[in-house]
Amino acid sequence: MENQLAQEELSRQKLYMADVAEMMKVRARGPVPLAYVRTYGCQQNVADGEKIKGQLSEMGFEFAGSPEEADFILFNTCAVREHAQDRVFGNVGALKNIKRRHPATIIAVCGCMTEQEHVAERFKKSYPFVNIVFGTHVIHRLPEMLYTTLTDSKRVFLRGHEGEEVLEGIPTRRDGTSRAWVTVMLGCDNFCSYCIVPYVRGREKSRRPEEIVSECRELIQAGYKEITLLGQNVNSYGKGLEEPVNFAELLRRIDAIPGDYRIRFMTSHPKDASKELFDVMAHSQHIPHYIHLPFQSGNDRVLREMNRRYTREQYLELIRYARSVMPDVSFTSDVIVGFPGETYEEFQDTLSLIREVEFTSLFTFIYSPREGTKAAKMPDPVSHQEKTQWFAELLKVQEEVAAQRSAAMVGQTYRVLVEERNEKSGLLSGRTASSVVIDFPGGEELIGQYAQVKVTAARSWMLSGELAE
Ligand code: SAH
Ligand code: SF4
Ligand code: F3S
Repeated sequence: MENQLAQEELSRQKLYMADVAEMMKVRARGPVPLAYVRTYGCQQNVADGEKIKGQLSEMGFEFAGSPEEADFILFNTCAVREHAQDRVFGNVGALKNIKRRHPATIIAVCGCMTEQEHVAERFKKSYPFVNIVFGTHVIHRLPEMLYTTLTDSKRVFLRGHEGEEVLEGIPTRRDGTSRAWVTVMLGCDNFCSYCIVPYVRGREKSRRPEEIVSECRELIQAGYKEITLLGQNVNSYGKGLEEPVNFAELLRRIDAIPGDYRIRFMTSHPKDASKELFDVMAHSQHIPHYIHLPFQSGNDRVLREMNRRYTREQYLELIRYARSVMPDVSFTSDVIVGFPGETYEEFQDTLSLIREVEFTSLFTFIYSPREGTKAAKMPDPVSHQEKTQWFAELLKVQEEVAAQRSAAMVGQTYRVLVEERNEKSGLLSGRTASSVVIDFPGGEELIGQYAQVKVTAARSWMLSGELAE
């Protein structure tokens, strides 16, 4: 029933699409309407950006390389840290000049930032040249919003949560031809005390397994070589589905699709990562022995205050189990330095955990208070300057760990998926199964293909190599 309503909604948007296409033809500065879409933040936002671009394509838009040329400018924003958010305010502010030069330009802001009441208000009051502001749950209504702006030139503000099921069938224009994102679940129920995501992305909703499997099958048939399954907490996939399917089972079903491809997934929450998951990985055809498993802190008191719901020992137990069933498994992780009330001694536990696990690489963040979260109200006596010093200490430890791991790779040959050519060095970059990047010289025809590359030199985390016979 619900799904039927959703499909009716999409048909309704199709009607707006046709009208917008007609009106934009007339309004465009050049022969075809041009759109500029800039996405900030995580892969979830990148996947949303592809749905936005899919809809714009259906409305006759082509894509501009800079906002200056565009008839429609959209910023798809991220709210996870203050710094990221400030950059967006700055960049949106700069669009004012473009609007002055080309008053017909339509400017829109969407994504996680706009889901915060105070931010939406700020766009409303202080950025009058922004025509459309919309939230993360209504991207499929972009045609209607454009129609409204074009027909009665009023500003449009649209947020809201619709339905319990994930909307299927929104047109998608994928950025890549060899790597694709497939959303398996939306939202997050975890409420880690520092994190804004559950407030801006809403409650967890899983897509039906048959929809996911058939999307993956189509991608593999179309020649995609790597599929990354997306969700804020993929390990809790399946909550609320009619058919009880957990994440491990979903992986099993995708892995059964024939072809030469890799399945990746992110993000796994340690509290929900199961032994079953590692067993499936160990026995699969297509899942690399690699997992991104954010630990955030190596200290139990800090983990408790973060509401992470696992201990250091439980985390290490997972790592040990994974290594017991996949001796070659590698890990990456996210870490937060300077959580409110964290002491220098507690921070040392984070460093010792990094040394113990030997991560391939780390995504490291200095704690950033987010309005409305629990941690934002906690006393935070350590100065930013001090946290910056801790941060530098952490980077040094990770660099040592990474340098050792990289050095051990020299002389070995790896199968990489070739992703792109580095503009500066002119070298190709390929990614190993464990998500390590190796740069090597080679021809254009290799991009998007697998290649065997022998590592010839290592500098901290940077690896260079050459094509192997
Ligand atoms: N759902 C994923 C990650 C979401 S955000 C997970 O649970 O792992 C990506 C990373 O940003 C987090 O893992 C965390 O390390 C970092 N992060 C989130 N909120 C933050 C904040 N307020 N300050 C600093 N880092 C933060
Ligand atoms: Fe944020 Fe925690 Fe949810 Fe990840 S699991 S998105 S860190 S609340
Ligand atoms: Fe940012 Fe939203 Fe992702 S806050 S990290 S873009 S879910």
